[in-house]
Amino acid sequence: MIPIVVLASGRGSNFEALQKAIEHHQLNAKIQAVVSDRPEALVLEKAQQLGIPALAVPLPLEGDSTRSRRQKHEALILDKLKVFSPKFLVLAGYMRILTPSFIEAFRSDRGYSRVVNIHPSLLPAFAGTHAYAQAFRAGVKVTGVTVHLVEPDVDTGPICAQESFSISDCQSESEVEKRGFAVEHRLYPETLSWVLSEEFVFRDQKIFRNRSWGEVRGERMMQPKEGPYACQN
Ligand code: GRF
Repeated sequence: MIPIVVLASGRGSNFEALQKAIEHHQLNAKIQAVVSDRPEALVLEKAQQLGIPALAVPLPLEGDSTRSRRQKHEALILDKLKVFSPKFLVLAGYMRILTPSFIEAFRSDRGYSRVVNIHPSLLPAFAGTHAYAQAFRAGVKVTGVTVHLVEPDVDTGPICAQESFSISDCQSESEVEKRGFAVEHRLYPETLSWVLSEEFVFRDQKIFRNRSWGEVRGERMMQPKEGPYACQN
């Protein structure tokens, strides 16, 4: 089972969906802890009820600048994580922007970050907060959900999976949200099932699932007259 830690700030419906998928053997992972920057977040209560360590790590009040407070905060989180040594960090509604050095602590030898996030839009459209509301207000007919690896800029990083859905008949932001959450709760565990086991090719900052290096490089498989298969560019 792949050890993960979930970072979340809110009600934790994605955390619950992940834990359910684990219990149903659809996701080969173990949530070792849930960490929240908001001590009152519902997600901590939910984790506790499930017997999962729930840690509140609020942003420290002291610090000369916002930057130093953020750095202190992340150092506190990294310190708490030491005992769990998770392979991946899974963000599920975590409302803080991670600094480059924090992400570096989870960089794999192959160059990608082992921090995963779910965002409620088809990135790069509607980055930032309240993405379902942004989509509804913009009057788009289709929106969606993105699962991506996290890089320092907000809502950027290699895209692992995207799923779109129509909102042309939605009358309110909450209708869009309802449709979106149904997708999120299925797509996140489904995607993590192959992301956590690192069954992908990473090239040019992109993730390619279920494809060989040769296919990613545009090589055609050729059957030579004799001997094993060979590649041709
Ligand atoms: C979700 O919409 C997720 O895509 C976004 O934050 C929200 C978290 O919801 N990153 P929940 O706390 O998992 O219910």
